Amino acid sequence: MRIAIDGPAGAGKSSVAREVARRLELKCLDTGAMYRAITLKALKEGIDITNSKLLGELARNCDMETEYDNKEGTLIYLDGENVTEKIRSPRVNKNVSIVAKSPELRRELVFLQRKLAEKSGGIVMEGRDIGTNVLINADYKFFLSASLEERAKRRWLEMKAKGLDVNYEDLLKEIAMRDRIDQEREESPLKIAPEAQIIDTTPYTLEEVIEKVLDAIRNDKIKEHGEEKIKIYHKESR
Ligand code: DC
Repeated sequence: MRIAIDGPAGAGKSSVAREVARRLELKCLDTGAMYRAITLKALKEGIDITNSKLLGELARNCDMETEYDNKEGTLIYLDGENVTEKIRSPRVNKNVSIVAKSPELRRELVFLQRKLAEKSGGIVMEGRDIGTNVLINADYKFFLSASLEERAKRRWLEMKAKGLDVNYEDLLKEIAMRDRIDQEREESPLKIAPEAQIIDTTPYTLEEVIEKVLDAIRNDKIKEHGEEKIKIYHKESR
């Protein structure tokens, strides 16, 4: 089973994807982590992040590995170093959308993402272009959204819990800017796949959103296979 989850920053994609994958015993991949890892490397090496070709080369010549941990989510290694924490820095946050515009870079990463999906045996993949490009034939497609204020609030709380002191207004502006860049770029911009089920997560708790996603999958399976089989499937997925 391949499940695509797309949406803007802070809509809850990572937490939902991780938990849906755990309950359905699938793998999970946060594709944003891959764009973040390349951003980290480009900034470290002082590469011009508007140079699309150089970013493509950087991705081609680095050793990027991802690992799935059903508690932590996607762990990412770059040239042998675990950079899972480092890719969440405010500096990477600020620059990643600009890096992700590069068509050459996107080609490299999409190739890797499709390869990972192929060998996964079943995956929940989340990002911006999963349902519209990476896994165009995904069995289920979801688009998670939430108001800008709610998304900024969630990110602010997340950062505060990590001990990071960030200004809510600055965070809101940064997310709005990232949204705009992600939606307006030429190469596979953030948009809703025609078949995607849209979930506005603004009024819901994380658990409620997870249940909505699982319900949509269960209901579809019931249509396909009948109630009895799905009860077993439901039980095992917990
Ligand atoms: O999900 P995130 O905030 O970690 O993603 C970081 C950036 O990476 C986001 O601003 C856009 C980009 N991205 C993308 O362009 N395509 C993806 N499939 C995933 C992320």
